[in-house]
Amino acid sequence: MIILYGKLYSEWMIRMNTEYFQWDREHGYKTQDLEKLAKILKDGGLVAFPTETVYGLGGNGLNPQASEKIYAAKGRPSDNPLILHISKKEELSLIVKEIRPVAEELMKFFWPGPLTLIFEKSERVPYTTTGGLETVAVRMPEHEGARQLIQAAGVPIAAPSANRSGRPSPTTADHVKEDLDGKIDAVVDGGTVGIGLESTIIDLTEDIPVILRPGHITKEMVASVIGEVKMDPGLSGSDATVKPKAPGMKYRHYAPRAKMTIYDGDFKRVMEKIKEAASSFESDKVGILATEESRGMYPHGQVVSAGSRKKHTIGEGLYGALRQFDKLGVEVIFSESFSAEEKSEAIMNRLLKAAGQNIVYLDD
Ligand code: TXA
Ligand code: MG
Repeated sequence: MIILYGKLYSEWMIRMNTEYFQWDREHGYKTQDLEKLAKILKDGGLVAFPTETVYGLGGNGLNPQASEKIYAAKGRPSDNPLILHISKKEELSLIVKEIRPVAEELMKFFWPGPLTLIFEKSERVPYTTTGGLETVAVRMPEHEGARQLIQAAGVPIAAPSANRSGRPSPTTADHVKEDLDGKIDAVVDGGTVGIGLESTIIDLTEDIPVILRPGHITKEMVASVIGEVKMDPGLSGSDATVKPKAPGMKYRHYAPRAKMTIYDGDFKRVMEKIKEAASSFESDKVGILATEESRGMYPHGQVVSAGSRKKHTIGEGLYGALRQFDKLGVEVIFSESFSAEEKSEAIMNRLLKAAGQNIVYLDD
């Protein structure tokens, strides 16, 4: 019942008036806007805001009622813990039990930035925020607007991605509006985010650090700083009995509504195969996930580009493209594979989840 609580509560939630604010790199916030947003957070309300990865849905992470509101607004099971966002390293010692040298090293290199670290939690952090766990995930975002907001609020901000549970993470304020308008107090519109995929998560509570979610900061980058690091064996999805350690990674997630199949292999063969598969559906019922370079090559179907292979913008565009298929109302999607791209580990992890691990390898 406790797991269902968020879902049931959200169905009964009263519609509220969501206020929209602006932030941009050149002008920052208007002073009175920042004060208003900080007050909403201090009073236990919810504010969605941009980070360098995806938009987050923020609330006071030390206030259990605020965390409950986050679960309810997202329709998220309350056993799926939230990440605490801080604006300065000094704030870390208040919310964790111990900071090991390996954590110091990682923070020195990658904070502020798209890296989340998992520690044993201190007593101040409520179990509502950690989904009942003894550990807490912490991140110091690089995005200036995010850090200013956290600092103004004066508390660690719990912020999952600002989407309804199960939908792709938002990379624009419009995506947030689609999912959460009327359910939260405020949204900060800071334009399109830079990275487009959620932060890398590293668990530091085991002897050898473990990557629980791949992201912009790759295993190689982490290894170059701390030496040994492992991938969570539950991530590969190849063995259904081995569950991922991050509770959120076990859900079918990031998913468009249509059934999706990914084709991997020699690029010419992939394109031929997608054309052939698409031809047995009505053109407006079949979606094709392609790239800037290949979008013109499919004569039949609703072709959506995730970004450019040449310019390495697939990560940025992937979630927006998945949302586009929902708007088009296609019934089935065929996707190119991005396993040869830069940062492919993070991109393929999200794409495979969107496809429910449904991938066809065309090479022998
Ligand atoms: O880039 C990001 O990390 C974004 C932005 C807003 O910062 N946030 C984000 O949060 O992606 P969310 O809630 O959508 O994903 C958090 C993931 C979930 O898979 C959750 O299960 C995992 O982190 N997680 C959080 N606390 C954990 C813990 N103590 N142990 C293991 N996994 C944890
Ligand atoms: Mg999320």
